[in-house]
Amino acid sequence: MTPGPLLAATGSPPAAPIADTRVPVVIRSRPDRSVIDAMPTAGPLIDRFGRIHRDLRISVTDRCNLRCVHCLPDEDVRFLPRGELLDYRELTRVAEIAHRLGVVSVRVTGGEPLIRRGIAKLVASLSAIGFEDVSLTTNGTELARLAPELAAAGLHRVNVSCDSLQDDRFARIRRRGELSPVLASMDAAESAGLSPVKVNVVPIVGVNDDEVESFAEFARSTGRPVRFIEFMPLDADGAWRRDLVVPADEILARIHARWPLEAMPASGLDASQPVERYRFVDGNGEIGVIASVTRPFCGTCDRLRVTADGSLRNCLFAHDELSMRKVLREGGTEDDLALMIRRAVWAKLPGHGINDATFLRPERSMSMIGG
Ligand code: 5AD
Ligand code: SF4
Repeated sequence: MTPGPLLAATGSPPAAPIADTRVPVVIRSRPDRSVIDAMPTAGPLIDRFGRIHRDLRISVTDRCNLRCVHCLPDEDVRFLPRGELLDYRELTRVAEIAHRLGVVSVRVTGGEPLIRRGIAKLVASLSAIGFEDVSLTTNGTELARLAPELAAAGLHRVNVSCDSLQDDRFARIRRRGELSPVLASMDAAESAGLSPVKVNVVPIVGVNDDEVESFAEFARSTGRPVRFIEFMPLDADGAWRRDLVVPADEILARIHARWPLEAMPASGLDASQPVERYRFVDGNGEIGVIASVTRPFCGTCDRLRVTADGSLRNCLFAHDELSMRKVLREGGTEDDLALMIRRAVWAKLPGHGINDATFLRPERSMSMIGG
């Protein structure tokens, strides 16, 4: 393979300074008084555009044992000091309140969530809350070891990130670690009952875009739904360019030309999911595309995020955050915290604006937000 611009940069210093997450995030677009006053303080977790929020993503760490090109820089990563991370009691409290406000599904993310010590304890606490769906996104390096414990703690299913099915390329994209343990971790997860194992792939032009068909074949032969995620401007290296994105339309057309696909109707929890699902007409499995860049799905977004340091983010691309940590640590009541969650949702903008001329990348990159 000819190295693409991203892989070519491997080993060189980051192209852009890495955001220091210790700097408080400035609220630039505070809604005016009349908008705040109109916020409901009871009923579902609704925003100003009528979107009801039902999905919570909890990042448990900004740390990762890998350095994927589309996410982290190779070196000189500044991680949060431990004291700034919410502890499991605090994270559980946030999740409980969100659940009371109508959130039905929770996903544990990172960084890499499985490198945080005792993660199964948090999963057990989350699972005891009674969410309809408890899932986790992982890079797969620690999953084989932890899968039985996670399943016993009540985890329903996992998404495993895997951006190449070729050993050497996999290693170059991740800049640490190997492919075979990650493939083995998918088997281990299934044996432990964490099904379906979904596989997240970020295709990037000149890096791994020639593997779209191989991943489709992988989905067919393993029965694991593969999710193609469009590359988003959330890489710490600042190397994202629109022409590096492999559009969902192209992915679908290429796969459809080899193995005809048909759209799957969205139902239940799926209806508000960003993924567009397609099954192979011959019955051999399914794939999905998450077209954040070319077909933004902001209109049906029902997602809210808590970062590892306890900030509420209403969008991956948000510039504003509300920090819950201080309130949690200074004896905030349940009502105080519920109101913060409502405010974070109420302040959500109609869309992420990636396609606007005025688009500005957020200060935090993917591993600092939580995928
Ligand atoms: N664009 C799209 N997806 C990304 N991920 C990490 N960085 C990016 C990016 N810049 C993916 C990870 C993981 C998921 C949570 O998000 O590979 O699968
Ligand atoms: Fe780690 Fe996931 Fe980012 Fe890769 S994409 S560096 S595995 S957090």
